[in-house]
Amino acid sequence: MAHIEIQGVAKSFGALHVLQDCTLSVDKGTVLTLLGPSGCGKTTLLRVLAGFAEPDAGRVHVGGVDITDTAPSRRQVGFVFQNYALFPHLTVAGNVAYGLKVRRVGRAAIRERVSRALDLVSLAGLDDRYPAQLSGGQQQRVAITRALVLEPQVLLLDEPFNALDLKLRQAMQIELRKLIGRVGITSIFVTHDQGEAMTLSDTVAVMRAGRIEQLGRPLEIYDRPATEFVATFIGRANVLPARAHGGIIEGMPDLDARGNEGEVALVVRPENLALADGAGPGWSGRVAFASAIGPTVEYEIDIGAAEPLRVAAQRRAGETLLAAGATMRATIIEPSACIVLPR
Ligand SMILES: Nc1ncnc2c1ncn2[C@@H]1O[C@H](COP(=O)(O)OP(=O)(O)O)[C@@H](O)[C@H]1O
Ligand SMILES: [Mg+2]
Repeated sequence: MAHIEIQGVAKSFGALHVLQDCTLSVDKGTVLTLLGPSGCGKTTLLRVLAGFAEPDAGRVHVGGVDITDTAPSRRQVGFVFQNYALFPHLTVAGNVAYGLKVRRVGRAAIRERVSRALDLVSLAGLDDRYPAQLSGGQQQRVAITRALVLEPQVLLLDEPFNALDLKLRQAMQIELRKLIGRVGITSIFVTHDQGEAMTLSDTVAVMRAGRIEQLGRPLEIYDRPATEFVATFIGRANVLPARAHGGIIEGMPDLDARGNEGEVALVVRPENLALADGAGPGWSGRVAFASAIGPTVEYEIDIGAAEPLRVAAQRRAGETLLAAGATMRATIIEPSACIVLPR
């Protein structure tokens, strides 16, 4: 059995089915990310795990023990909320010590555990500050420390970096990943940001409308999305209507239909397309837009379809971009990396 097992969890609020048949497992010491658009049920699933919400169906096991009916205070589950929810009138040390006091831990032990925990997240020396005297990143570290100091079996983090700007957010992602590695705690992290999920996770569960649409390692989900929703939610993708027949995609003999027959969606990542000029296979059209982000150039090629084709190219130092209006042909670089999904 994995360290966390969620089996067939369902939850409705009135007629609204917020969670439906959610099943997933998290191995000890690993990080699973629940990734999905706002409103898909991520927070509700965390709340079920923490015991703040009661599921209508399904079971939750932690460490082999069924905790579905266990009171939240007895679950040994640490929770880090979206808005840090620090006590403004308590110092950093006071905030971190709070849960230990409630649990009637002795004063000397509290002092020792708080200082050890603050060391772990590089907050030593800030013990006497109040939350309002800390940066957003420091406040979030206090919130994480406050959860970790109770030595929970499981750590749940609900979009903890939402309030931070992009640079700090990325730094915190890496910091948290290292911290979780050092502490070795089984964690579930919630985000709607796919980049964050990629950086932080051993496993990603993509959620959509209360269901888990796909569960896998980050690159697995990127390379082999199971549905069009996952393909377009994780990374960028060109989704092209196509027909599968006789084991191949019609008109593209080197594209394996992967067992499909009839209408399909051919999904091609922008980095799996290259631009050429002159006649040949592929899609021809005019360059409609070019944007360079450092070494990567993204072109939009108007191929006369509803959506332009997106092509990501590497730009060598000093190289100029293709001019808008130029006619180019996009060809597939690696046919085996294309994704074919039934429609
Ligand atoms: N206590 C509640 N009562 C009624 N509806 C709720 C409650 N909690 C959440 N919901 C609804 O459930 C859906 C999922 O919410 P939530 O789990 O917060 O999604 P996410 O965290 O993915 O944004 C939303 O439509 C939300 O409005
Ligand atoms: Mg939420």
